[in-house]
Amino acid sequence: MIAGMKALIPTETSGPLVAFAEIDEPQPLRDQALVAVEAFSINRGETFQLESPTAGWRPGKDVAGTVVRAADDGSGPVVGTRVVAHPPAAGWAERVAVSSLSIAALSDEVSFEEAAALPLAGLTALRLLRALGSISSRRILLTGASGGVGHYFVELAAAQGASVTVVTRSAERARRLRALGAVDALTDVSEGEGQFDIGLDSVGGDLTGRVLTRLHADGTLVWFGQAGMVPPTLDFFDWSGGTNATIRKFDYSDNPVPDAADLTTLVRLVENGHLHPELGLVENWSAANDAIESLLARQIRGNLVLRVQ
Ligand SMILES: NC(=O)c1ccc[n+]([C@@H]2O[C@H](COP(=O)([O-])OP(=O)(O)OC[C@H]3O[C@@H](n4cnc5c(N)ncnc54)[C@H](OP(=O)(O)O)[C@@H]3O)[C@@H](O)[C@H]2O)c1
Repeated sequence: MIAGMKALIPTETSGPLVAFAEIDEPQPLRDQALVAVEAFSINRGETFQLESPTAGWRPGKDVAGTVVRAADDGSGPVVGTRVVAHPPAAGWAERVAVSSLSIAALSDEVSFEEAAALPLAGLTALRLLRALGSISSRRILLTGASGGVGHYFVELAAAQGASVTVVTRSAERARRLRALGAVDALTDVSEGEGQFDIGLDSVGGDLTGRVLTRLHADGTLVWFGQAGMVPPTLDFFDWSGGTNATIRKFDYSDNPVPDAADLTTLVRLVENGHLHPELGLVENWSAANDAIESLLARQIRGNLVLRVQ
């Protein structure tokens, strides 16, 4: 392998979580294109991994950039195509190799920064909707709503006719979510009237059980994350709601549709003005450590995107 590109890698000491390193160029497999990265986003899940990184792991699942070498097997976009991509790792770098199954082309109307905010959060929102089936006129309660997944979910679910109530901690965050289609915004899950058909929780701790109690007896609780880093607690003997509920865990990667197809859908929705990436913070990648601190401190609404240059 030839040396010579810059990447952000996890540090092995206490202090800053990532540092620049000069590393080997990626060597694409036959079905992989080489993408010159213009922007990438950082997800909360990746920050958890940064706190105890496994040896050799290089972060980076959400990238946007330009194809500089097409896949040798003829699949995927040609050289020069602007793309969004979802590699399993290694995207916080000047270049990354990505399977043709995880790349979608971008039109000039979608900026690299908007595109970089799409993959993990957008795929999760889209696939949550697929997992829920028909949601038209259903009352949905969503925690962690001001994050990357939450903004996309609210806009897409509202467009399908769902009545989405969000839980978020500030009026400013609530305003944006209402503008995207939320019918109500709570600062605490116990506020508001009535029961919900579906509860979606990605915070964990006692919040998961509190969402359950806001459901109709036969409602559905979907647990898809643990932003608070505390496992959910449920009290079987709390009969105040959701007494006969279905409780399911959701993982976006367990999905029948290839990433490329779902990324193409997300890009089309952005191009048509039906989906609006929420860029809470856009910085140069030299500011990565401060940006990650802001994300961990819940200071970023929507997505965190870093530009590479
Ligand atoms: N299951 C899957 O396949 C899948 C895929 C992607 C992401 N996830 C998970 O889904 C969750 C949301 O992802 P995301 O990218 O949207 O995250 P994010 O952008 O960081 O948003 C999470 C939001 O949760 C709220 N929150 C409430 N209590 C919190 C706490 N104790 N600690 C941190 N945040 C808290 C915060 O909003 P307020 O401060 O406004 O309350 C924050 O904006 C994460 O846990 C992530 O790991 C799961």
